[in-house]
Amino acid sequence: MTASRENWSARSGFIIAAIGSAVGLGNIWRFPYVAYENGGGAFLIPYLVAIFAAGLPLLFLDYAVGHKYRKAPPTAYKKLMNGESLGWWQVAVTLIIGIYYASVLSWAGSYMFYSFGQQWGSDTEKFFFTTYLQNGEGLAFGFVPTLFIGLVVVWAIVMFILYGGVKKGVELSNKIFMPLLVVLFTILVIQAIRLPGAVQGLNAFFTPNWEAMGNYKVWLAAFGHIFFSLSVGFGIMLTYASYLKKKTNLTGSGLVVALANSSFEILAGIGVFAALGFMAYSAGASVDDVVSGGIGLAFIAFPKIISSMGAGGDLFGFLFFASLTVAGITSMVSILQVPIAGFQDKLGWSRKKAVTIIAGGSAIVSTLLFSTHSAITFVDIIDYFANNIGIVAGGLLSIVLVSWFRRPLLKQLQEHVNQYSSIKLGAGWNFMLTVVTPISLLAALLMTLKSIFTEGYGGYPIEILLPIGGSVVAIFVFCAVVFSRLKDNGPEEK
Ligand code: ALA
Repeated sequence: MTASRENWSARSGFIIAAIGSAVGLGNIWRFPYVAYENGGGAFLIPYLVAIFAAGLPLLFLDYAVGHKYRKAPPTAYKKLMNGESLGWWQVAVTLIIGIYYASVLSWAGSYMFYSFGQQWGSDTEKFFFTTYLQNGEGLAFGFVPTLFIGLVVVWAIVMFILYGGVKKGVELSNKIFMPLLVVLFTILVIQAIRLPGAVQGLNAFFTPNWEAMGNYKVWLAAFGHIFFSLSVGFGIMLTYASYLKKKTNLTGSGLVVALANSSFEILAGIGVFAALGFMAYSAGASVDDVVSGGIGLAFIAFPKIISSMGAGGDLFGFLFFASLTVAGITSMVSILQVPIAGFQDKLGWSRKKAVTIIAGGSAIVSTLLFSTHSAITFVDIIDYFANNIGIVAGGLLSIVLVSWFRRPLLKQLQEHVNQYSSIKLGAGWNFMLTVVTPISLLAALLMTLKSIFTEGYGGYPIEILLPIGGSVVAIFVFCAVVFSRLKDNGPEEK
């Protein structure tokens, strides 16, 4: 069977979609709380190190593999090194991330409506955990209808876009949503830094805390975050690059995407920390004392800023949560695109069939799991295992298998990228991928495992942490082993 592979209308379409993928909940929701939990300013330096030591080298590797072989991870890795298990591991990571990503996205969507009349009241923390999430003790499976409705809406929108295909779905939605996001978010951050007390929050964000940097967990968090944020190491950038035309400047595009992503992330950090400073100022307390950190931060701190604006805040709140939602939708689409393309390439499924089965199946699991009283517990634990084990291990393997065990391939990929790229990959990239990135990722992975077994995570009891985290890892392994045995029935593309 031969067919033409879908493609972007132009390189700009790819860049905007790649930025749309990178900039998402990771930047606005995840980065500020991870930074907050890891000492604020202490986090920035490991974060920057992680970008150069691991994020960018892997971004270029992902582009090279996807673009050279013009396939999603399983088939691309099969062509590269005659084995596709790693590709299916990455597909499994996206399936797992997709199901909880939808949940956080639906919270953002619901908050658009709570902005009218600022329904969160004065205690935004209590509203989030108790009124909205109806968070239960331990694992509580009772049904929460509002969460259910939000999830159904999110999945319907995402599936609608995915049915549209690469050009008319993914690219078009990004072209509409991304400019909107930039405008809205810039206004929000400007508003945040003008709040009284903002400086106190910004000091907490920008003052490096050298002592905290000695804590290896801060480094783990930085490495665990950067891949999620840049959408690398779990097949997204690889898949997006597979829809590019042959003569593409890959490194130039990659740098634009990485720069846009980090700018957005730092901007989000500034916005949230300025708001924390304001909350501290209003409460006459220190930044550390005003809010519990963690996963709910964006849903607690931002409503506070919005409330501080009086009645005008309603519209502003709506626009902010709308922009958080659209940022998330463009990323969610890219996450789902990996398994969809993976199965299309492997089994020759039509887009319609792949979207219906993959996204439809994920929607059912996601809706069942995250409309319970334990939604936030599931999000937190699954996010931790998916990022710190799923993505890090997948990224590490993709590097090591090439740069340690099949050196000539690294050279070929480098030549492939350099053919049409403005900035040439040279000895620096080679050294990073051979020494710095794999060693830092290996260390990160081993320390994560050690810390899970010795200290657990997030204070969860072991009888909650291990079944959830263990199932996540078991799914990665299952997909890697079982799906790689499927018989090839994919199209030979021109
Ligand atoms: N890169 C996406 C994000 O940051 C997944 O949300």
